[in-house]
Parts: sequence; C-alpha cells; structure tokens
Amino acid sequence: MTSSAPMPVAVMISGSGTNLQAILDAAAAGAIPIRVHAVLSDVPGAFGLERARQAGVAAECLPAADFADRHAFDQALGRRLEQLAPGLVVLAGFMRILSAPLVRAWAGRMLNIHPSLLPAYRGLHTHRRVLEAGERQHGTSVHFVTEELDGGPLIAQARLDIGPEDTETSLNQRIQALEHRLYPQVIGWFGAGRLRLGADGVELDGTPLTAPVVRDEAEMLRP
Ligand code: GAR
Repeated sequence: MTSSAPMPVAVMISGSGTNLQAILDAAAAGAIPIRVHAVLSDVPGAFGLERARQAGVAAECLPAADFADRHAFDQALGRRLEQLAPGLVVLAGFMRILSAPLVRAWAGRMLNIHPSLLPAYRGLHTHRRVLEAGERQHGTSVHFVTEELDGGPLIAQARLDIGPEDTETSLNQRIQALEHRLYPQVIGWFGAGRLRLGADGVELDGTPLTAPVVRDEAEMLRP
C-alpha cells in the first residue's frame, strides 16, 4: 500500500466510540495512511454509529438479537467483512467474543485495544479489579486478535502510575486519553506497512518485537 492509497479500514464498535473518533480524526488530519470506510456495531443506537455518519462513513448495525446464536451472528459478520474487504479490521470497544473461524480468517489483519497491561487483567471491569488488587501501575494494550480472548500477540502498551486519589472513573479517563493516542498510532504503522504478524510473532519495521513497545503517560501526552 502506498501513501497515495490509504488503506481501507473497518472499525467495529459496541458503544460510545471515542476510540473510533480518535481514529477518524487522525485519518482526516492525514496523520495516518488509512481511511475508515465502514463502521459496524452489534448494538443498535451505539453512539459510535452516529460518529461515523457525522464523518461521512458508512455505519451499519448487525443487532446481535436478530440472530439465532453466536454462530449465525459471526457468519453474517464474516460475510459482511468479506464484502467490505478492508485491509485491516479494528476492534474499538467491540464487546463480543468472536468465534475461532472468523478470527482465523482475519489473522494478522485484526487489531484490538484492551484497557489493561496484558497479559494481566483480561476480561471486563479492569479498572475496578486493578484498584481492588492495589496495583501501582495500569495501562492499555493493542494486540493482534487471536482465538484466545485478550490474548493475541502484543504490539504496544501505554502505561500510567496509579495515584492514591484515583478511582474507576479517573482511571477510565486517563486510560482513554492514552488509548486515543496509542491506537491511531499503531493503526498508522499497519497502514504504512511497518507492522505485521509474521510466523515468529509481531514485526515492526522488519524487526521482530521481543516485547511490546511501551510508552509512559507523560511521554504519550506530551504535546
Ligand atoms: C475502550 O477503553 C477499550 O479499551 C475497551 O472499551 C472501551 C471502548 O471505549 N475495550 C475493551 O474492554 C475490550 N475488551 P470507546 O467506545 O469510547 O472507544
């Protein structure tokens, strides 16, 4: 993919879509060589669909309730993704577990962002669990999606120090501020052909990553 042809990207959401907005903004500003050409949601009325429409991007909903079971939903989603043929599928707050065949079909071409320093704190309610455990650090991770929930090869993480005044709400705000910088950046790497999942793991600029790229909050939020 050359810089004159931005990579088409499909973004999948279930909710507010603040990460989607950050990706749309970065693409519109020409900061990353991708073009969001479709936004898909499993939740009717998800605000991310409205964000897509406002950005002039096709927004579609596949309401999970319309399908007999997970298999039927994933088949329909898989067919739709095949038609759309994006260069990359981005999960941005998409809160469904995808079945193995669908994930395999997009292996190396599907990214997720998860609000913890994976492999710690997979699953839901990460901010609460981190506080309850008395952790000193927290963060967010971008990874290639595999069949293992929140378990695919790590690409990059943004990290923060937890303060005594932090709450679930404050952590959510701080983590999201990091995500809004980290995720577009990683998506940009992929769009530019700098990032790939090879046989031996993640490669950035032709070099295998032995550990994810880690950035601290102060570095991430520097203007
Ligand atoms: C994000 O913080 C993302 O890390 C999280 O959902 C939020 C979506 O926010 N994803 C997961 O928990 C996936 N396991 P957004 O809709 O405002 O982008």
